[in-house]
Amino acid sequence: MLSSSFFHSILLATTFCFPSALATAESDFDWRTLHASKTLHWTPCYSAPLQCTLLQVPMDYNAPRNGVTASIAIVRYPSTSPKSQYRGPLLFNPGGPGGSGVDAIVGAGADFATAFGEQFDVVGVSYSTPTISFFKTEAERRFLIPSATNVLYASFNASSVSLADTYANMQLMGQLAIENDPNGYLQHMSTDNIARDMLSITEAFGFEKLQYWGVSDDKVGRLIIDGVEDMNAYYTANFTNDMLDTDKSMQTFYSGCAEAGAQACAFHAPSASQVAANLAALTASVKAEPIAVLTPQSHGILDYVFLRNAVLDALFDPYNSFAALAEGLAALASGNATLLYAQNEVPTFECDCTAPAPAFHENNFEAYMAIECGDGLPVNDTIAQLQQFYEDGLKVSTSFADLLLTTRVLCAGYKIHRQGRFTGPVGAKNTSFPLLLVGNTLDPVTPHANADSVGHTSLVATSDCTFSYYKAYFVNGTLPPPGTVCSVEAELFPSPGSTSSNATAKRTTENLEEIKIREAATRIGSVVRKILRRAL
Ligand SMILES: *[C@@H]1O[C@H](CO)[C@@H](O)[C@H](O)[C@H]1NC(C)=O
Ligand SMILES: *[C@@H]1O[C@H](CO)[C@@H](O)[C@H](O)[C@H]1NC(C)=O
Ligand SMILES: *[C@@H]1O[C@H](CO)[C@@H](O)[C@H](O)[C@H]1NC(C)=O
Ligand SMILES: *[C@@H]1O[C@H](CO)[C@@H](O)[C@H](O)[C@H]1NC(C)=O
Ligand SMILES: *[C@@H]1O[C@H](CO)[C@@H](O)[C@H](O)[C@H]1NC(C)=O
Ligand SMILES: *[C@@H]1O[C@H](CO)[C@@H](O)[C@H](O)[C@H]1NC(C)=O
Ligand SMILES: *[C@@H]1O[C@H](CO)[C@@H](O)[C@H](O)[C@H]1NC(C)=O
Repeated sequence: MLSSSFFHSILLATTFCFPSALATAESDFDWRTLHASKTLHWTPCYSAPLQCTLLQVPMDYNAPRNGVTASIAIVRYPSTSPKSQYRGPLLFNPGGPGGSGVDAIVGAGADFATAFGEQFDVVGVSYSTPTISFFKTEAERRFLIPSATNVLYASFNASSVSLADTYANMQLMGQLAIENDPNGYLQHMSTDNIARDMLSITEAFGFEKLQYWGVSDDKVGRLIIDGVEDMNAYYTANFTNDMLDTDKSMQTFYSGCAEAGAQACAFHAPSASQVAANLAALTASVKAEPIAVLTPQSHGILDYVFLRNAVLDALFDPYNSFAALAEGLAALASGNATLLYAQNEVPTFECDCTAPAPAFHENNFEAYMAIECGDGLPVNDTIAQLQQFYEDGLKVSTSFADLLLTTRVLCAGYKIHRQGRFTGPVGAKNTSFPLLLVGNTLDPVTPHANADSVGHTSLVATSDCTFSYYKAYFVNGTLPPPGTVCSVEAELFPSPGSTSSNATAKRTTENLEEIKIREAATRIGSVVRKILRRAL
């Protein structure tokens, strides 16, 4: 178990975590009215009781006195405890990388306070400047990054040219990154610097030790393996073992749907293998015959890649997505593509074509590529080697290797790797930032991604047990016993009406505090899910 109190003060959700250094979203507060400084000056923002500040940090932590700085936008939901009980900042990161911590606190600040205790200032960051972009205008960005849908991944299996095309496309992104980064900021977008930023924030609050709740940025469903090995794979840009549980997650859709019955699962068939076969047939049909869809919000093509992404997306958040996915698939199978399309669409982009990228513009793709690929070793693979990498990966997962392993192709395009950045090895007992975010701290938190629940991170499935451990951990430093397994109070395919009636039944038998925490956790989960979807 953990011995150093420094380790105790850190909690890692499932795998690896990033604060959202750079992200944007709709905002009611104009951060440009604030001036960055080395100390925290709080200003009321958004809605009471939220407060905001801009903290100045070194751009290059190895040359802190060269005068080049970055500013981190910080929002807090202030502690209401008396001073004697005040415990400082608790940093929350919704993951991504690219999800806005500011949006999380703006959306659910009070719920964080309920879930973790009023002793903390609950803190989220994002909107940092200078804002990086690979593009000169927002129009160029939207033209080059397919954002008409929720499609995140390319697929190796879409056609015989998709690997080569994706490869060339990512080379282009990597070259645009260099072209649009004359000041060399991108090299500093890395996990080690983000970890240093978080420590800077903590210190600016007058505290020594980081208190952190991060949601994994990893895109793979429900992986908990040895965190140590996992991290070394991350730093070698080898995402293969991320897929160890992907096929099992997919299987829960098939078996859950078969067991749930036609009432609860619209894509129902009598056996799991029949559900699987029906989905395969539907996928093949869409591959042969993609469908044009027009909705009031947007228009696009429901093709193989769209469908595969829609299914994978649901695997990340099965308790909230499986039933809807089943409805979308059933409608598609009966000839109506609109529902499944609409579940994954984003509004058609419109803009003034000549407008430069605004000060706080969307750059989730850039943040993702810069951090995920900039952290790791340079990927030097040829197209043939990437093809081999994919084929090797199929031995680990047949269900989504074609999508998930395209991350390596993404990284093959990215050429900015700061000399001296942290690249492992991970797993030493006594490490400093950012190693202590990983490895050892995973063990005590196995409840939030164990074999008992499906999906990615504890937020996708509400569990009283998990959240009560979180609170005990943050408030008292108490760790759950090794190997603790929490069950989830949710069903993959709830039968109509079951959720509310069960919630009512439980209300009478449980104490109010637990119910309050559960409701808060549910709202946090829903806010974070929205942020992450947008981050993609
Ligand atoms: C690739 O697509 C074909 C349909 O064209 C399908 O039969 C096959 O299972 C897919 N392979 C993988 C690994 O997804
Ligand atoms: C990636 O990791 C897998 C699983 O550990 C391994 O089999 C494979 O050889 C690795 N590939 C590369 C290119 O390092
Ligand atoms: C297809 O589904 C959409 C969304 O569920 C619905 O609004 C529409 O009426 C359906 N179209 C047809 C032709 O049934
Ligand atoms: C790519 O090549 C560079 C320079 O030779 C090397 O340092 C790096 O380790 C290589 N990347 C991988 C993933 O092997
Ligand atoms: C780890 O750090 C503690 C406290 O600084 C020290 O007492 C201990 O010897 C270190 N252990 C190792 C293996 O370096
Ligand atoms: C923290 O410890 C105190 C004293 O043991 C206990 O009363 C309290 O319930 C604990 N708080 C949490 C959130 O576990
Ligand atoms: C309600 O919850 C209980 C456990 O508390 C569970 O056994 C039961 O299946 C649930 N009922 C429905 C209809 O979901």
